[in-house]
Amino acid sequence: MLEKIKQTIGFIKTQTSFEPQIGIILGTGLGNLANDIQIQCAIPYADIPNFPVSTVIGHKGQLVFGTLNGVNVVAMQGRFHFYEGYTMQELSFPIRVMKYLGIKTLVLSNASGGVNPNFEVGDIMIITDHINLMGSNPLLGKNDDEVGHRFPDMSHAYDKGIINKALAIAAKHGIKCQQGVYAAVTGPCFETPSEYKYMYVIGADCVGMSTVPEVIVARHMDLPVFAVSIITDLGVIGKIVEISHEEVIQAANNAEPKMTKIISELIREL
Ligand code: HPA
Repeated sequence: MLEKIKQTIGFIKTQTSFEPQIGIILGTGLGNLANDIQIQCAIPYADIPNFPVSTVIGHKGQLVFGTLNGVNVVAMQGRFHFYEGYTMQELSFPIRVMKYLGIKTLVLSNASGGVNPNFEVGDIMIITDHINLMGSNPLLGKNDDEVGHRFPDMSHAYDKGIINKALAIAAKHGIKCQQGVYAAVTGPCFETPSEYKYMYVIGADCVGMSTVPEVIVARHMDLPVFAVSIITDLGVIGKIVEISHEEVIQAANNAEPKMTKIISELIREL
């Protein structure tokens, strides 16, 4: 695995000598945060050896190097999903590359369906924990001990210190911020009403189709993680309406400025 990572790093170094401190993954409908980055270099995924190519509408598909609020970042504008047919190892490979590019923290964003009855469309939820319902794990198979542990601890998957900093920033700006548990499913179907109910009963506050594989891989390599979810629809009895991918993108776009504000201030404090 290390060989493959080094090959990809070798290519990236031919494109830029930029040294990122923070890695950011921009989720569905949340790619506009990249507009706030003073871009030094942007490399389409298709050009990067060993990277998969994104297939979903609303995903730009490039690795962006630059400064956000004065901090050196590398951002994935568009991520890879399990439902696109990639293996968990493939879709999480970019996290390994970012780690070996030198990032000290991984920041992730996503869109999700809220199952907590106190949530509203457009809410921001800071992820405090997750439930992996994807039926797979990116660490299956032989472990490369040089890269990470065989049995990573997940009791502190989402860094408490960073969460507290983000909550303070949100409070300072009067941004309402939920906290909760993200359940990850494969998709690509949205949930049935009974599935949404199940998510809530087992302890989730929202459900989405990403993030967990990347977080597992980051924790495998001891990389601290902060993740935020935009609630784009509600899987709450009495509030469930038909939804489409386009509506999810629209709802995420609407809430994006609040998320961008928190992330761009937060990274200065990491
Ligand atoms: N379910 C799963 N994934 C999602 C949802 C949802 O309701 N909304 C946005 N991503």
